Amino acid sequence: MGIARLVSFTLWIALLGKPVKGGKSIERIDVHSHFVPPFWREASVSAGYGKPDGMPAIPEWSLETHLDFMKQANITKSIISITSPGTYLIQGNTLAARRLTRKTNEFAADIKRKHPKEFGFWASLPLPDVQGSLVELAYALDHLKADGVTVMTNAHGVYLGDESLDPLFRELNRRNVTVFIHPTSPCVRQGHSERTAAPLTQYPNPMFEFFVDTARAVINLFLSETVARFSGVTYIVPHAGGALPPTIERFTSFASSISGLPLEINSNIVKEAFSNQFYFDLAGFPFPDQIHGLLRYIGVSRLLYGSDFPYTPAGGALGLARTLDANIGEVVPDPNDQSSILTGNAQQLLAK
Ligand SMILES: *[C@@H]1O[C@H](CO)[C@@H](O)[C@H](O)[C@H]1NC(C)=O
Ligand SMILES: *[C@@H]1O[C@H](CO)[C@@H](O)[C@H](O)[C@H]1NC(C)=O
Repeated sequence: MGIARLVSFTLWIALLGKPVKGGKSIERIDVHSHFVPPFWREASVSAGYGKPDGMPAIPEWSLETHLDFMKQANITKSIISITSPGTYLIQGNTLAARRLTRKTNEFAADIKRKHPKEFGFWASLPLPDVQGSLVELAYALDHLKADGVTVMTNAHGVYLGDESLDPLFRELNRRNVTVFIHPTSPCVRQGHSERTAAPLTQYPNPMFEFFVDTARAVINLFLSETVARFSGVTYIVPHAGGALPPTIERFTSFASSISGLPLEINSNIVKEAFSNQFYFDLAGFPFPDQIHGLLRYIGVSRLLYGSDFPYTPAGGALGLARTLDANIGEVVPDPNDQSSILTGNAQQLLAK
């Protein structure tokens, strides 16, 4: 970055931000940020994911730029993960998926080993390969000291909640694992092939399809009773729930009164599950408006900070952190609650 750009950038940050409340210094724990190892980038590009989910490119990333961003944003700890499209890149090539997953997990574990204070990681799994995922789960938790796992909303059209994933959820449940859900492009399976389920292909999928796929996956977790059957699993839902909050009354009422599904569900059951098994990260643009809908369903103890770096570049993520700081008082007036959202809730979750 040139000096002139650096100066104007710094000024911009200074102007955007309000002074820290009460002169207290802000600290954050970032549960939603990504690492981009060179071999994963190469594998993604050669598998046809050079423009992932309709985005122009895979962003640049290095450990140094990540640490530098953390310093600027007052992030004391980042839990890093591989983002969409995950680590199962070539449909049908399970062996390649297992190998790539292992390599990304080793890479993240190495960062955590070298910087235990600054980094943790959500391990990847080679879904929809359940056998490979069970092996990787044990290895990641027992040998690599992963903080939990990350899963995409769907893996080649297999959505969270699909009954083929039950053996994995049984094990996640037995071990009380935290599952960081990440959106990916919607997808439908047709026999052995698959195709995108995003009709408006002129828009990049992160723009809004990610929100819809997040809602779809979490709804299926509830309607398949995965949430209730495996109550030891803790979920982090990204982007303040995406399109989920306004669908809750709808899908629960429909399930119980109209479609006659044989399960007990209503919005109070969902709220109860949220208060025990769910967290929501604040990556993206939840302030000043989006957050209000979610707060009808959860208390502030279920919120976590997330930057989405480097998919949200450092400058943007800093601006969003400032927007959060400037607006959070409107919905969460107590400074102690505010600091729980930025650090305390994540500390409790990570200590589980
Ligand atoms: C980081 O903390 C410093 C002081 O502790 C504060 O001046 C600055 O605004 C904070 N920046 C962000 C993005 O939180
Ligand atoms: C999971 O959590 C339950 C309830 O807190 C506890 O009894 C159990 O020992 C935990 N299991 C493991 C493997 O940590």
